[in-house]
Amino acid sequence: MNITEKYINVRNQTVAFCSHLKPEDYVIQLVKFASPAKWHLAHTTWFFETFILMPNATNYNVFNTNFNFLFNSYYNTVGDRILQANRGNMSRPSIDEIYAYRNYVDEKMQIFLKTTDDKKILDLVTLGLNHEQQHQELLITDVKYMLGHNPFFPVFHNDYNLVKDTNSTNESIKITEGLYKIGYQGNDFCYDNELGAHKVYVPNFEINKYLVTNGEYFEFMEAGGYSDFNLWLDDGWNWVHKNQINSPMYWHKIKDEWHYYTLAGLQKVNKNAILSHINYYEANAFAEWKGMRLPTEFEWEIASLQFNWGKRWEWTNSAYLPYPEFKKENGAVGEYNGKFMINKMILRGASVATSKNHSRNTYRNFFNPSERWQYTGIRLIK
Ligand code: AVJ
Ligand code: FE
Repeated sequence: MNITEKYINVRNQTVAFCSHLKPEDYVIQLVKFASPAKWHLAHTTWFFETFILMPNATNYNVFNTNFNFLFNSYYNTVGDRILQANRGNMSRPSIDEIYAYRNYVDEKMQIFLKTTDDKKILDLVTLGLNHEQQHQELLITDVKYMLGHNPFFPVFHNDYNLVKDTNSTNESIKITEGLYKIGYQGNDFCYDNELGAHKVYVPNFEINKYLVTNGEYFEFMEAGGYSDFNLWLDDGWNWVHKNQINSPMYWHKIKDEWHYYTLAGLQKVNKNAILSHINYYEANAFAEWKGMRLPTEFEWEIASLQFNWGKRWEWTNSAYLPYPEFKKENGAVGEYNGKFMINKMILRGASVATSKNHSRNTYRNFFNPSERWQYTGIRLIK
């Protein structure tokens, strides 16, 4: 596939997902971290307009000069913007205007791509496509958050029960201590936070080939896991109490039976299916209860060649920090990852909501330890 084909492909995927939304679904934002679909559609478009077309395309006319303020997410380099929590407060621009914005930018991008072979610009287009794929996953999880907090648990689409996969093994893998190379070493696209490949010394460890199931987590719940302070980190214990948590996100006890919301509607919890929607505190407490622990991101990367991954983002007990030779790029691109390297934990792998061909075993995802609206899971180490 050439770059234009890749561009069309990725852009169409975003629109295809949104084709199942009702007009009202596009607008609302229940919490700061879950953006409205309308905003995702526009922000990903704004990325191409701002970083590719404006600086490089001849005689490019900005679609709407107000859009920089509305759809800039967090780039101080390119100016002021609305508060993140206010993304759902705007009925206008309308959905029609936003689709017209997408079409306008897509047309200009396709014309522009015919005229450039500048490697730096094309690398930035590739970043824009990977960026849009990240937002495709956020779109799915943000729509799930919105519909999953509707009192009547509406079905998004019957093909979207994304939490139905079960485990196929309960084996573990032994890894011998030694020096291992960590970080991206290939020649294809990767994010800047994967670069600066370096060696890390890792002691012997034994890691599960499988992810924790709902049934195993249910045992933790039944054993009083959520009420035993000994199992919890202090922040986690405060979080459990402040929010009165007693189950993963989207779980509801209805007539004595546990159900969970999926994008295909409310379903009975399948105990053989892989657990999802737990945060770092819960992952850590569960590991503590098992007398085990979470892997470091290095252990995960080393062992990942020997197990299947890609169903859940897997919490590691590594903080999101720069690799020793991490280099921040100049300008707006330097704001993409580096400035978030504080107070977040690393997740490895990919999830059922991750776009195809988006992740790698060196990919470093990161979220706040309290967040659990992504398709997150647990893999344990002895
Ligand atoms: C890598 C998923 C944590 O949500 O901010 C989107 C992805 N980066 N736009 C995020 C991202 C820029 C990022 N995560
Ligand atoms: Fe973004």
